[in-house]
Amino acid sequence: MTDAEFHPDTLAIRAGRTADDRALAPTIWATTTFTTGSVAEGRAMATSTDAARFYTRYGNPTVAAFESAVATLEGAEAARAFGSGMGAVAGVVLGLCSSGDHVVTQHQLYAGTQLLFQAVCPRFRIDVTFVDATDPDAWEAAVIPGRTTLVYAESPANPRLDLVDLDRLGAIAGPVTVVDATFATPLGQRPLDHGVDLSLHSATKAIGGHNDATLGVVSGSRELLDWIWGFAVLQGANASPHDAAAGLRGLRTLGVRLERQSATATRLAEALEADSRVRGVRYPGLPSHPQFELASRQLRLPGGLLTFDLPDVDSGARFVESTRIAQLATSLGGPETLVTHPASTTHVNLLPEELAAAGIGPGTVRISVGLEDAEDVLADVRAALDAALGSS
Ligand SMILES: Cc1ncc(COP(=O)(O)O)c(C=O)c1O
Repeated sequence: MTDAEFHPDTLAIRAGRTADDRALAPTIWATTTFTTGSVAEGRAMATSTDAARFYTRYGNPTVAAFESAVATLEGAEAARAFGSGMGAVAGVVLGLCSSGDHVVTQHQLYAGTQLLFQAVCPRFRIDVTFVDATDPDAWEAAVIPGRTTLVYAESPANPRLDLVDLDRLGAIAGPVTVVDATFATPLGQRPLDHGVDLSLHSATKAIGGHNDATLGVVSGSRELLDWIWGFAVLQGANASPHDAAAGLRGLRTLGVRLERQSATATRLAEALEADSRVRGVRYPGLPSHPQFELASRQLRLPGGLLTFDLPDVDSGARFVESTRIAQLATSLGGPETLVTHPASTTHVNLLPEELAAAGIGPGTVRISVGLEDAEDVLADVRAALDAALGSS
């Protein structure tokens, strides 16, 4: 049996062991630089896109091991790790686009990515068109032949879990297509299998999995990754070896965490949907999700994230301040169940019409289900609903 024949959960255990020698756990190469044998060797490494033993901003053995593990799980030729998810997003966008280029992206985006497209791209004369992520025709229709260099999607999207049809996205010819697949994880969805060029993750989330590493990663063809590398070494948002080791550790347990979080989130989504005080429950594992059929086709597991609407800002705020197990914090994918109120935190910089386009209401609540006992999580959410809205 070759590694290519193993199932994803087995690959997650075996992948990325290039820097370990005989150590079972990831070896942390905590060094900024490496001794160089000769001037000729230095020259070769200074210009090589995979010199992992030259200078850590260019590459590092622990980081390279993490990159190789993610590339394996994504079915990609290569990957580049960054110091955060936003490092990866900015590295891809600014590494691939030039002044005069055009980008197609979606209304429903992580707010940091949205700000990059809205506030930074115009400064570099990169034009951006925003489309409805869920309209498969809109993506291709917005492409301007000869000018659109990048088609940038996020699926499932933060925070309302809207999906992009990856087969349709991957079929767009011409521009480079990218999917931010953070919410799905590499074990939940593989954009490259659908013909998409690049798959991107904030590995700060489920890949790292323990809320102790800030990390990003992008995977794709060697040619595209080489191009991105040329900008990334100057951008300087490289991953630290410590965080890359945390990413490798996270990957080893990602499969079981994703299964457990999906199971608890499914129960919670069903309970919320049955509660008459709650509206608009969104979860890719619920048949009521407007794209349930698409979700069943392109997501291996529905994941640990769900959103729902409470009537107004006050009840949304009271809910997130009332949970005891679910903690009020802006991240996702870790062992602790977290709640956020997007309108006042992650998406606070958006204008009212932008919030509406992203499907975020004043009382929208996002939950990232953790690894606590499902009964405790459900009881906690029920008690917080009582506190926010009164008993049902
Ligand atoms: C979907 C998505 N992409 C990218 C990012 C940015 O990641 P980071 O916080 O690691 O920079 C986030 C952060 O929440 C996110 O949710």
